[in-house]
Amino acid sequence: MTTPPRTEPLLAVNELSISYGAGIPLVQELNFTVRRGETVGLVGESGCGKSLTALAVMGLLPPNLKTAGGIDLGGSDITKLDARSLRKMRGSQMAMIFQEPLTALNPVMTIGSQVVEVLLAHNKITKAEAAKRTLELFELVRIPDAAARFNDYPHRLSGGMRQRVVIAIAIACNPSLLIADEPTTALDVTVQAQILRLLKRLQRDADLGLLLITHDLGVVRQVADRIVVMYAGCVVEEGPVDEVLDNPRHPYTAGLLAARPHGSRTAGAERLADIRGTVPAPHARPGGCLFEPRCPNAQADCRAVRPPLSPLSADRALRCYHPVGGAN
Ligand SMILES: Nc1ncnc2c1ncn2[C@@H]1O[C@H](COP(=O)(O)OP(=O)(O)OP(=O)(O)O)[C@@H](O)[C@H]1O
Ligand code: SF4
Ligand SMILES: [Mg+2]
Repeated sequence: MTTPPRTEPLLAVNELSISYGAGIPLVQELNFTVRRGETVGLVGESGCGKSLTALAVMGLLPPNLKTAGGIDLGGSDITKLDARSLRKMRGSQMAMIFQEPLTALNPVMTIGSQVVEVLLAHNKITKAEAAKRTLELFELVRIPDAAARFNDYPHRLSGGMRQRVVIAIAIACNPSLLIADEPTTALDVTVQAQILRLLKRLQRDADLGLLLITHDLGVVRQVADRIVVMYAGCVVEEGPVDEVLDNPRHPYTAGLLAARPHGSRTAGAERLADIRGTVPAPHARPGGCLFEPRCPNAQADCRAVRPPLSPLSADRALRCYHPVGGAN
């Protein structure tokens, strides 16, 4: 497959909907893109559909969920691929890092043999070549004394070191898209910063598209180029990270920012906090704007018809009739 030109998105999620049961929507009309060499921060309250979106891109949704819409990665629509083609794409073109590194690793295999196994599954190389490449990967993710660590089992490593192994596995076959779902929330703050720096360095060096899912606006500001804000299964605002966080237009984005602790912009300080009310359950979402029951700007028209995601400028989009700062 040829590398897409830089102006074309690497990943394009087009009108993606995910539902269960009798069509109860979990994710609705989701649109966003990730370009090569770009980090996109996907944020939103718990339960808004961030992980489901990531799993849909990886072709790993649980079987009880149905999808509609398209997910284009480097020219292939993921939603149309059979299980074999998907398996081939996972690892070689897209890879995912999960929140809890211990569950991502096999407890009864040494960390070295876990990476070797992945390399052998995706490349025509010998075991010795795979072992050599594993050591290079361990050095790339800065595992100290890599050769001595090769035969360690996961439980002998700290949380941060385990996450480095998971990252080594994820990048082993040079994917063009890396999805990291809350990759640092299980780690303490200093280790979090190290892992984020590592991800950013790998992303720049390999010109990866990185989709970073997080609750933490401080992390997004620190690491991402663009931000996609989700609320109750929909994108409500997106754009360049500094523009959106310095001048939020959606009342939900503004609420998230207002709720953060004041006086500090360090990573970890801008956590999503309380906005009055709660996110509606998937089966009880309002017919008009999904944020209307909690929105300080709500008016009668907001209840009638759900606002579309409309462009605000060449690189910003907004789903709101009465944005913060007034209509354009
Ligand atoms: N297999 C499933 N069947 C039915 N509903 C599901 C299923 N998996 C997830 N959900 C529901 O879909 C919604 C979105 O879940 P998701 O895990 O994507 O949220 P999230 O944004 O990642 O939240 P968090 O920040 O807590 O990780 C939630 O309401 C969840 O309960
Ligand atoms: S459309 Fe209306 S209710 Fe929805 S976010 Fe905008 S102002 Fe608030
Ligand atoms: Mg999640």
